[in-house]
Amino acid sequence: MPLFSKTALMGAVLALGQFSNAKQVINNVWYCDEVTKMQYQNVGCSGTYKTPSVMTDNSGQCVVNYAEQAYSGPLAPLNNQITFHLRGPLKLYNFAAYYIDNTPDDEDTPQTYGARAKREEVHEKNRRFDHRHHHEKRKVKTEVVEEVVTITRYADTPEPSSTIELTAAPSGVVANAYKSKSGKPKKPATGDLWKRVGFYDSGKQILEGATFLNNKGGQGSGTWTGCFGNSLSHMSADGQSGSPTPQILADNTLFGVNEEFSIWTNQSCDGTCGYSYGADTCYRGWDGDNKVFVFKFTMPPGHTDDSNIYGNSNMPAIWSLNSLIGRTQQYPSNKDWSCWDSGCGEFDIWEVLYPQAPACEFMTSTLHSAQGNPGTGKGGGGTCDYFKRPTDGTFTGMVSYLSDGTITIQKLADDWDFPEYLTTDDIKKGFSASMPSFKVAS
Ligand SMILES: *[C@@H]1O[C@H](CO)[C@@H](O)[C@H](O)[C@H]1NC(C)=O
Repeated sequence: MPLFSKTALMGAVLALGQFSNAKQVINNVWYCDEVTKMQYQNVGCSGTYKTPSVMTDNSGQCVVNYAEQAYSGPLAPLNNQITFHLRGPLKLYNFAAYYIDNTPDDEDTPQTYGARAKREEVHEKNRRFDHRHHHEKRKVKTEVVEEVVTITRYADTPEPSSTIELTAAPSGVVANAYKSKSGKPKKPATGDLWKRVGFYDSGKQILEGATFLNNKGGQGSGTWTGCFGNSLSHMSADGQSGSPTPQILADNTLFGVNEEFSIWTNQSCDGTCGYSYGADTCYRGWDGDNKVFVFKFTMPPGHTDDSNIYGNSNMPAIWSLNSLIGRTQQYPSNKDWSCWDSGCGEFDIWEVLYPQAPACEFMTSTLHSAQGNPGTGKGGGGTCDYFKRPTDGTFTGMVSYLSDGTITIQKLADDWDFPEYLTTDDIKKGFSASMPSFKVAS
């Protein structure tokens, strides 16, 4: 979801002149046609973003150091680890993550499925759940945080090098080491098999390869400081609070207006992810040049407060962020306290932007990155076409991030059964030259 003014965003998008078929404008956002699939093309640019490398609350003095991270390639910066964020009113029934299951050591190796065993050899980690006692349990209110900002001081960044040293992850935790010899991302081949590496089934209470987190650090896991507020926390099964350990989201849980949670892998970072404000809630995101995700959800109508149209009431959403954002500050009171503003990337998949009919029924998508709006990190662009929000029934939708620089969102059949394996053909079955598309400006 856009973290900053949508008006500014739309100004940028309108300047691209993409909306000749616009049908209606609601609160500065164009809505065109209802679609069941949508492809973003030409996704990926190169540049650097700035991310906190240390965040310390020294008795009220907020010290933040920064590091620069370079990115390039198709999808970049969303070829970094990404995480999924969901906001109510919403119920999640299923989630699945798929990765190509061949990890050829070199490009000429015939594709075999022997690599699968390798992948599963994730070495046992001793997760440390540091059960600290937090006496400060009160929530950070925006007003409080704003006071804190006035006393913020930035320490000089001591690092001589301007690039974060991200320690390479052990091969077992790089779910998608699917590169050619030259290090360039390979494009998925027709015969490739994709394995389900992350899975949630609410009814059967299955959770594999994934972790649910929320922003309640200080409640059993994560941390809270006056400077930065709540870090990430493990989410309780009812979705309402933090928890010392990872939990399986309970069946039929309704997230209400403004309630949010996120989906990560189950692999702890162990120093491979860069800085994390919550030390014991550092999980890897969904990495790689080719990655596919499926969600089954409903977004029942929420309370609509006419007086507060920007309050996220009745505005559910599912979006993806560079994982560094969640690990630092998803809603920073200072824009530099996450890498978002400097362009580490966001892709909104299904987002309601207005609480009233008819726009509350329209799920929109947008890319935020340095593309499409040179000089800023949050330009990107988006289509005015939208998906129909499921207020009664369910919606099963796939989003594929592929190394040809496309991100494709597709509505699937409602009885789609989250199989253990997919083929590239299954993923691309609905693609066609004539499908609705949006080419992101370079
Ligand atoms: C992650 O989940 C997979 C699938 O359920 C499991 O095999 C693996 O042991 C888990 N890894 C960790 C580090 O918990």
